[in-house]
Amino acid sequence: MAYDVAAVRARFPALDEGAAHFDGPGGSQVPDLVAEAVAGALRAAVSNRGAGTAAERRADGIVTEARRAMADLLGGTPGGIVFGRSMTQLTYDMARALAKEWRPGDEVVVTTLDHDANIRPWVQTAEAHGVTVRRADFDPESGELDVAAIAGLLTGRTRLVAVTAASNLLGTRPDIPAIAERVHEAGALLYVDGVHLTPHSPVDIGRLGADFYACSPYKFLGPHLGVLAADPGLLETVHPDKLLPASDAVPERFELGTLPYELLAGTTAAVDFLAGLVPGEGNRRERLAGSMAALEEHENALLDRLDAGLAETAGVTSYGAASRRRTPTTLFSVDHVRSADAYLFLAERGVNAPAGNFYALECSRRLGLGDTGALRAGIAPYTDESDVDRLLKGIRELIGTPNRQA
Ligand SMILES: Cc1ncc(COP(=O)(O)O)c(C=O)c1O
Repeated sequence: MAYDVAAVRARFPALDEGAAHFDGPGGSQVPDLVAEAVAGALRAAVSNRGAGTAAERRADGIVTEARRAMADLLGGTPGGIVFGRSMTQLTYDMARALAKEWRPGDEVVVTTLDHDANIRPWVQTAEAHGVTVRRADFDPESGELDVAAIAGLLTGRTRLVAVTAASNLLGTRPDIPAIAERVHEAGALLYVDGVHLTPHSPVDIGRLGADFYACSPYKFLGPHLGVLAADPGLLETVHPDKLLPASDAVPERFELGTLPYELLAGTTAAVDFLAGLVPGEGNRRERLAGSMAALEEHENALLDRLDAGLAETAGVTSYGAASRRRTPTTLFSVDHVRSADAYLFLAERGVNAPAGNFYALECSRRLGLGDTGALRAGIAPYTDESDVDRLLKGIRELIGTPNRQA
């Protein structure tokens, strides 16, 4: 079934403000259904989770439903879905919990392609435990992170490899199943940052071979929180610090304090919305597979249009457009114009394409873009051809402007 972008756009109240949004990799806009689910949870009687009162049962039901929804989206098990404030917080927490079993001389591997949220928690935790950090480097020319770059660093002391499923700066999608095979042969765990992949592709954490898979609903049309998925059996072996009276059950032992029930209700709604992007049959997981495949096709067509437009615009430099597989995300700059100025120039024309390193700091530096970074344009489920054309028109206007400042 064809992807009807006009019907999708009609569900996003924020689009009425008129901007062309290329800021999705920073955080997506939200459909009406999600906003209503959040408000609905706040309007109804909700208490702490329990079975005694209707308010307790409602809270419990919201959590159960949200775990089911995330398990459907990621191909996981509801009992292995952990909610937290953000991917960053969940990753720091998991690093500290795993490190209880690390010994001086053990090793962890991070990559220069990753967002800092999948580098710094491992680096700082490793430092605190006398653990050695090894860095796998991507190729700044192609934007690719080869399996060999990671495989070459694995030793008998490697405890964990942290790698992104998709770069939020370049869109590069490393070959995670192949990496997982090598990491598991070495007897290490694989922690995959799925924040930038999840909004753009069907996900199956089993097929990826991820021991841990972290993502953030606010990047895939949902509310601001984070999710960590793992096998419940693996989570049973990890013992985070927790309050004495708090549950020691999995996954609750990883969820410090009271969960944001209204945001969980919104997360379920976001997954339901994604499952219904195109009409489909079957259970939610099956409908998600169809919807996400249709979305990927829609977004790739727009990425091709954008890439082609940028390529034929003299004065634009694109970075590390990974030749193999890539999310619909493009990093570029306009010659002789500071990216921060280009961003403001576009913003004045209702085109939201921010500039920066987007916390992929090591990646930005490796690309030769320092801490300043460049302009990033991300395609989202609500992006259409006219958005892409507005962005290209804005860039061409900027290039044609004598004093090329905002
Ligand atoms: C690839 C990637 N990883 C991690 C993060 C951090 O996510 P959170 O804001 O949920 O901590 C982001 C946020 O931009 C991201 O793009």
